[in-house]
Amino acid sequence: MSKPKVFVTRVIPDKGLDMLRDFCEVDLWEDELPPSRDELMKRVRGTEGLLTLLTDKIDDEAMDAAGKQLKVISNHAVGFDNIDVQAATARKIPVGNTPDVLTDATADFAFALMMAAGRRLIEADHYVREGKWKTWGPKLLLATEMKGATLGLIGFGRIGKAVARRAMGFDMRVIYYDSSEKESHSDYDATRVDFETLLQESDFISLHTPLMPATRHLIDAQALSKMKPSAVLINTARGPIVDMDALYHALKEHLIFAAGLDVTEPEPLPMDSPLLTLDNLVIAPHIASASTVARDNMSWMAAKNLIAGLKRESLPNCVNPEVYSKY
Ligand code: DGY
Repeated sequence: MSKPKVFVTRVIPDKGLDMLRDFCEVDLWEDELPPSRDELMKRVRGTEGLLTLLTDKIDDEAMDAAGKQLKVISNHAVGFDNIDVQAATARKIPVGNTPDVLTDATADFAFALMMAAGRRLIEADHYVREGKWKTWGPKLLLATEMKGATLGLIGFGRIGKAVARRAMGFDMRVIYYDSSEKESHSDYDATRVDFETLLQESDFISLHTPLMPATRHLIDAQALSKMKPSAVLINTARGPIVDMDALYHALKEHLIFAAGLDVTEPEPLPMDSPLLTLDNLVIAPHIASASTVARDNMSWMAAKNLIAGLKRESLPNCVNPEVYSKY
């Protein structure tokens, strides 16, 4: 019996790829860079499954290009704003994602950025390397202490909660804003507040909300102007949640103390971006989930979702389960 044909848009860890190769005929995009739109359109044609990354835009046009035999789209990420889920649902195509397995890696990295930006770690490193370190100084590179600081979490899902757990070990006060969560969480020493209160009271603000129309530029000039001048903003969620121009202005004018970004708009950030001239910005190339364990498990989970969809079984992690009522 012939194996179902799938397109995998980048080389993923072997844990997932080996599993796919056992079950499918894998067409693998091996370049370091994602396939161009034209290439994507060509390679999806005639496939029954797509294993995609957050860099691949899978919209109506791409699903049309794939054809009617397309059974499943499996995203190698927890976020799925690169996929038009409505269009997939309309075609009865389940869409999979990879929650949980990257929660701890991402929360660790959010914390790493908080400490690096809050304690001026990169600036300190440059200070030493540039030969500026002359002596120990009582006021040299003063920064924010974690203990007793208020951490404001925007989004209190899996990753937000994992950051809250870490903050408890640092004796921080934790507050959160989440427009979608219905209940408050008594098992966390964290207080639910409204958006304004969070902006005004937080020493650190960390973003853990998905990108959707309501969260695009949620952190704009107005939101930044309500933060403390000592505030540190962390984004490990999606770049467009923050208005980059407004952030540049706020950092440049010291309206806030610092920022730590793992995600930007666009990605990658162009080398002539004025943000890259700022000392009070710590920046990373979208690697919050990049622990070996998390990436292995993401590949495995993405492969499991894809194979389940090819077999017409329920996906272990499906973002549009309503699709099953359409079979
Ligand atoms: C995700 O999974 O959505 C992250 O941004 C990449 O791991």
